[in-house]
Amino acid sequence: MAEETRTAKLTIGDKTVDLPMFAPTTGPDVIDIRKLYGQAGVFTYDPGFTSTASCDSTITFIDGDKGILLHRGYPIGELAEKSHYLEVSYLLLYGNLPSPTELEKFEALVTNHTMIHEQMIHFFRGFRRDAHPMAVMVGVVGAMSAFYHDSTDINDEFQREVASIRLIAKMPTIAAMAYKYTIGQPFVYPRNDLDYASNFLRMCFAVPAEDYVVNPVLSRAMDRIFTLHADHEQNASTSTVRLASSSGANPFACIAAGIACLWGPAHGGANQACLEMLKEIGTPDRIPEFIARAKDKDDPFRLMGFGHRVYKNFDPRATVMKQSADEVLELLGIENNPVLQVAKELEKQALEDPYFADKKLFPNVDFYSGIILEAMGFPTSMFTPIFALARTVGWISQWKEQLNDPQLKIGRPRQLYLGETERSYVDIEKR
Ligand code: CMC
Repeated sequence: MAEETRTAKLTIGDKTVDLPMFAPTTGPDVIDIRKLYGQAGVFTYDPGFTSTASCDSTITFIDGDKGILLHRGYPIGELAEKSHYLEVSYLLLYGNLPSPTELEKFEALVTNHTMIHEQMIHFFRGFRRDAHPMAVMVGVVGAMSAFYHDSTDINDEFQREVASIRLIAKMPTIAAMAYKYTIGQPFVYPRNDLDYASNFLRMCFAVPAEDYVVNPVLSRAMDRIFTLHADHEQNASTSTVRLASSSGANPFACIAAGIACLWGPAHGGANQACLEMLKEIGTPDRIPEFIARAKDKDDPFRLMGFGHRVYKNFDPRATVMKQSADEVLELLGIENNPVLQVAKELEKQALEDPYFADKKLFPNVDFYSGIILEAMGFPTSMFTPIFALARTVGWISQWKEQLNDPQLKIGRPRQLYLGETERSYVDIEKR
C-alpha cells in the first residue's frame, strides 16, 4: 500500500472528518474513505464507479486525457511494435520483460498446455450448433473447474500458477472449438510447433481435408490484436473477475464471470456491434443519418466503437489497430474494402462534429479490429471470443495480484436505499 501523503477534510454539518490521502507513482491522488462510515455514519455514492479506485495495482496505467496506456510502465505502442503477445503476457504476469531463457521456458510451458481434456469435447457437443461462441465459452471455461480439480485451490501458490498457465494456453483452443462447433466442422487440435497466434488461426481455419498454411503477416496481425487487448486496468470484466475472486471462488469460475461481463455491447461486444453497424451504414452517403441518430437523445442508438469511460483522447490501441487494418487489407489486396471506407469516413465526420468533440468521444479499440478480423475470415460472432482469449492474461494477472494483496476483503458495495421503510404484512384477503 502507498504511503499517506496528506489529509483531506470532509465537513458534514458541524462535523469534520480527516481522511488519509495516497499518492500513486503516476496519476491522480486518492482519498481513503474506508473508515468514513465508522467516523461519520455516511456512505459515498458512485454508481458506475466513475470516481472510485477499487484496489491498488502495479500492472497497467491509463492516462485517459493524454491517451496513454502503459503495461508495467511500457507504452502499448512500443509493445505492439516491438514485442509479441506471449512476451507481453509474461510482462503482465511477472512484472518485468523476460530474459531470453525465461521467455523460452514460458513459451514452452504455455505450448505444452494447449490441449484440452478429451472429455471436454463431449461437453461442447451438449450445445446447440447455433449457439453464440461467447455462450459456449462462458460455459466451457466455467466447466474447466470440473475438469481440472488439481488447480482450483486458490491458497496453493503452485495450483494458482498451473491454473494461470492452463487458462492462457487453452483459451485459443476453446475459442477455436467454439467456432468449429457452430459451423459444424470437426475440431482441429493444437499444433505445438506453431506460435500462439498461428496456432489459433490454424485451429480456426484448417480442416482435416486440407491444412491451413499460416500467412506470417496475418499471424503477426493476429498477435498484435491479442497484444492490444491483453489488459486494460480495472475495466468492467476485470472488476467482475476481481469481485468474483474476492469471495474465494476458483480461477475458472472467476474467468467465466469475466467472459460473461465482456460479452455486453458496451464492453467487448462492441467489436461485433461496430462491424454490424458499419455494414448497416453500407455507403458513405448514409453516414450523416447515423451520426444524427447517435446525437439524438430520444434514440438509444450510439456509434459503436466510439467513446470510452477513461479515454477522453485517442485510444492508443485504436491508432495501432487502424495502421494494422491498412496493412492487412493491402496484403490481402482489398484496400478498397467498402467497410473500411465507411469506417474512415465515419471517423472523419464524427471527429469534425462538435457533439463528439465536446463530449471527447474518439474511436476506441473496437472501431477497427472487426475490419481486420473479418478480412482474416472470422465471422462477427467470433470477434468477442477473440477479445476474451486475449484479455485472459490480463484477468489472470489482476486475479493473482489480488490474491497476493494482504488487504484483500470480499467486495461488498453499499447502496442508497430509496425503497419502502418497514411496513406490516397485509393478509391477502385484505389487499
Ligand atoms: N455515441 C453517441 N454518444 C455517445 C457515445 C457514442 N458511442 N458514447 C458516449 N456518448 C455520449 C452519451 O450519450 C453521453 O451524453 P450526455 O452526457 O449528453 O448524456 C456522454 O457521451 C457520456 O457517455 P456515458 O455513457 O455517460 O459514458 P460512459 O463512460 O458511461 O460510457 C461507453 C462509455 C464506452 C460505454 C460509451 O462511450 C459507449 O456506449 N460507447 C459505444 C460502445 C463501445 O464502443 N464500447 C467499447 C468500449 S472500448 C472496449 C471495451 O472497453 O471493451
